[in-house]
Amino acid sequence: MVPTSLPPLRSSNVSSTPSLSPLSSFSMYTSSSSLSSSSSSFCFLSSKPSYRPCSLRVNINKTHLRTSSKSKGLKVNCSVKSEQLKVMISGAPASGKGTQCELIVQKFGLVHISTGDLLRAEVSSGTEIGNKAKEYMNAGRLVPDEIVTAMVKARLSREDAKEKGWLLDGYSRSATQVQSLEELKIRPDIYVVLDVPDETLIDRCIGRRLDPVTGKIYHLKNFPPETEEIRERLVTRPDDSEEKVKLRLEIYKQNAETILSTYSNIMKKIDGNRPKDEIFAEIESLLSEVQKDKEKLKLGKPTSGNDSLLNQSSSSQDNWRGIPTRLNNIPHSREIRKYFYNDVLQATQRAINDGRTRLKVEINIPELNPEMDVYRIGTLMELVRVVALSFADDGKRVKVCVQGSMGEGALVGMPLQLAGTRAILEFMDWGDYGAIGTFIKIGSIGAKDVDEQDDMFILVAPQNAVGNCIIDDLRVMTDAAGKRPVILINPRLKDLPGSSGIMQTMGRDKRLEYAASFESCYFFRLLYYAGTQYPIMGAIRMSYPYPYELYKRVDEPSGKEKYVALSTFPKRPNPDEINDAFIGKPRNQTKKASGIWGFLSSIF
Ligand code: AP5
Repeated sequence: MVPTSLPPLRSSNVSSTPSLSPLSSFSMYTSSSSLSSSSSSFCFLSSKPSYRPCSLRVNINKTHLRTSSKSKGLKVNCSVKSEQLKVMISGAPASGKGTQCELIVQKFGLVHISTGDLLRAEVSSGTEIGNKAKEYMNAGRLVPDEIVTAMVKARLSREDAKEKGWLLDGYSRSATQVQSLEELKIRPDIYVVLDVPDETLIDRCIGRRLDPVTGKIYHLKNFPPETEEIRERLVTRPDDSEEKVKLRLEIYKQNAETILSTYSNIMKKIDGNRPKDEIFAEIESLLSEVQKDKEKLKLGKPTSGNDSLLNQSSSSQDNWRGIPTRLNNIPHSREIRKYFYNDVLQATQRAINDGRTRLKVEINIPELNPEMDVYRIGTLMELVRVVALSFADDGKRVKVCVQGSMGEGALVGMPLQLAGTRAILEFMDWGDYGAIGTFIKIGSIGAKDVDEQDDMFILVAPQNAVGNCIIDDLRVMTDAAGKRPVILINPRLKDLPGSSGIMQTMGRDKRLEYAASFESCYFFRLLYYAGTQYPIMGAIRMSYPYPYELYKRVDEPSGKEKYVALSTFPKRPNPDEINDAFIGKPRNQTKKASGIWGFLSSIF
């Protein structure tokens, strides 16, 4: 079957190394070598396909820059074991992070990376880092970012953290630290914040004692030591005086806002002013849910719709930074176009690297949607150019094909949206490096333009027209292409009436079956109320090999907008599934939609 459109919200027309326990705070048990910085580079860093900047002059420019070498830019290198849990825990001083981390590690086996513990270990060992850090810590101030960031990066890049997952405690604590992780594309699945009133925090710090032998955290009133022997050896942290705690608290509050804004979509605030087992029960349930969702995602099953999971699936995609806003502003800004070209390119890349050969890209932002009066053929050409040149950079000989005129006699012609396309392709700037005519050739859809030396084919918006069907030409072309990739960019292959006005029924099944044989490697569509193109209600995005992601567009009080992840789907969601996700209805529940969303579903 030809995939049908999505009508509910109408489209725009649509280790081996143990974790550092508090034990490591004390020199007698700490090996500084276990903490030494590793120079190993992060596997998170991917070589990203280069985008060649282009400005639009009738959308076709003369400033195409060819920067990447053939060997770089196309290999997707995202080797994080995404099914491992990645947790960040935060909260004011003495909010109970360390106490909860002990329990989390026992239950989930994550590698606990506590910057406080790492620093205390360096201080105890008298290392250069430790000597620098000591004065800041004892004063209750933050240690300089570069020291802490280098330690965290080194620790995160070690094998155990990659294999078992990690629990980051006490980092990030400043805008710069958040930025450092973002630049490395290191994002947690969930950001847990322990919320405790100030007066309780001060009391907890003043009463806190540490056991230098076991590393256990005690509190003189709340968790007194089990024996007199333990009590006698307990120590107080130098930064636990009332005055220093107040300063630490103030610094925490100054920075909390910035950090929260980065992780707001994966943040879970937990009341930390309860018995520790009660708090842990809540954390355990949250982490288990995230873990289950990650496993489901790995298997391509629907998830619970947990934001953290969506974030994880998307953040594991190279360079993906969320859906850009202002998509109804036409013409799209250069940044927005660049974003989508890159997004399409990476998805296509991954699919080709995985050996897929029959692919389609469907991208329906307003400028690429021929049903809207803001459709721009130049944007389509730019997209084709970015994709084609990137593959050419990798040494592939790419044939870019557009259908010629179809039909006979008075009926000869071509779909309006493609008028002039071939000429534009031939005239447009393909860069100063001689790609056109060598690595990139222009051809027609059909068997005759399939040459032996071609490595792959990009077909520009192949489409049926009333009276004429492109599918036969496509079929002979793909037959001739054999195992070489054929990528359809914005195809429109739905069945249309024959020239006589009578529906062609002969071979219809086969045509539909053929059209459906192309696998989606990229899909993007905005969602609107029926009959309107404003406001945007949400979006659906799929980037191979990840699941379909459903987003809701939200207006913020500041006047800005954002896209909030609602759910993921292994297959393209149908209207009911989209509506259910918008109203927050659990999956597999057959209740009829009500209120405004019920109205929507009835009109779609
Ligand atoms: P760090 O060790 O991270 O200190 P912190 O964030 O101030 O947190 P704490 O360790 O004081 O408290 P916690 O939340 O772990 O609470 P705990 O479980 O122990 O950092 C220390 C210093 O290192 C910083 O000041 C800074 O100088 C430097 N540093 C660290 N990271 C840095 C970074 N990223 N950048 C720059 N500098 C950095 O519990 C506290 C007490 O409460 C205990 O006695 C416990 O028994 C008790 N308690 C716990 N839970 C409960 C409960 N539910 N009910 C009753 N009592 C409880």
